Amino acid sequence: MRWIARTFLGVFAVGWLCSAYVYLKSQQTINRSHVPEPRRVALVSGDDIQNEGARLSRIFGCVSCHGDRLQGQIVYEHTLNGRITAPNLTRQASNLTVNEIEAVLRQGIKPDGTSVFVMPSASFAAMTDRDFSAIFSYLLQLTPESASPKPTDYGLLTRYRMVRGQLPAAAQQRRTQPWRDTFRASPRRLGEYLSTVSCSQCHGLDLQGVDGRAPALGRLSNYDRVEFGELLTQGLAPAGRQVAGKADLAEQRYRFLEQEEVDALYEYLKQR
Ligand code: HEC
Ligand code: HEC
Repeated sequence: MRWIARTFLGVFAVGWLCSAYVYLKSQQTINRSHVPEPRRVALVSGDDIQNEGARLSRIFGCVSCHGDRLQGQIVYEHTLNGRITAPNLTRQASNLTVNEIEAVLRQGIKPDGTSVFVMPSASFAAMTDRDFSAIFSYLLQLTPESASPKPTDYGLLTRYRMVRGQLPAAAQQRRTQPWRDTFRASPRRLGEYLSTVSCSQCHGLDLQGVDGRAPALGRLSNYDRVEFGELLTQGLAPAGRQVAGKADLAEQRYRFLEQEEVDALYEYLKQR
């Protein structure tokens, strides 16, 4: 019987050591400090820009994670993964400076210098000053809410994914420079821009797909222009097929796309 007890203890000790390693190693990544690149943002103002901010906060997914009124919410919670919370943003814009918000959004660096996780700043890195201004001025006029959902608490599996590099610190991901707002007349470039800022959050920064998350994007051979529009804005695939998650995405994000933008995405992805 003694060998059983010993084996049991041995397995337990190895398990404990592995977990301790994952905790320490991930904590290093979480605590690491980063310096944002100083940037001057050319802020655009006006009523139209606020409405545009409301629309972009849909298309770019802020609402999907931070909640309908950006009041903050738990993005996921699971025994092994722990809890990931997208914080309440209704008071952020007035508490933080433009540059602090710029650094979180486009560079993945929080005011205390640590990186965000899960928040897709590597996709937002390409966001133009105009779109950033729109979202910023939308944040400024939100009604402050007191909601404070339970904070993030990384579980062992999430930490393991950090250590494996599957959940990178956004501040350490490839940092694209913001696009200059000179592309809107070209459908292909507009399509490239929208897929870089939005679709890449799931389909991968280079749209080559992410294991376990979403397939590679491009060569829309199964779709004609109209079918593509229906997939994005209504979540319907040809012949009534259901594509997992697309109905929610249509509802939360892509029904807010303008026809011109849907066409631009189609134009770009078809020729990729
Ligand atoms: C996939 C989910 C997701 C999306 C999409 C997303 N966020 Fe976040 N956001 C988060 C999470 C999670 C955090 C907390 C990150 C951390 O602390 O590591 C966060 C943090 C932030 C912060 C920092 C708040 C603070 O006090 O530290 C700001 C500002 C922010 N998000 C704004 C936005 C805006 C604006 C958009 C849309 C352009 C957006 N987010 C889209 C998940 C998301
Ligand atoms: C929140 C994550 C997410 C975002 C953002 C997202 N997708 Fe997807 N997409 C998925 C997933 C997951 C699948 C695979 C669904 C399946 O095959 O069950 C998918 C599949 C697809 C497909 C293939 C559908 C089929 O026929 O099986 C197309 C086309 C597509 N996405 C286009 C886009 C475009 C264009 C955008 C940006 C405008 C986008 N997606 C943004 C998660 C996402």
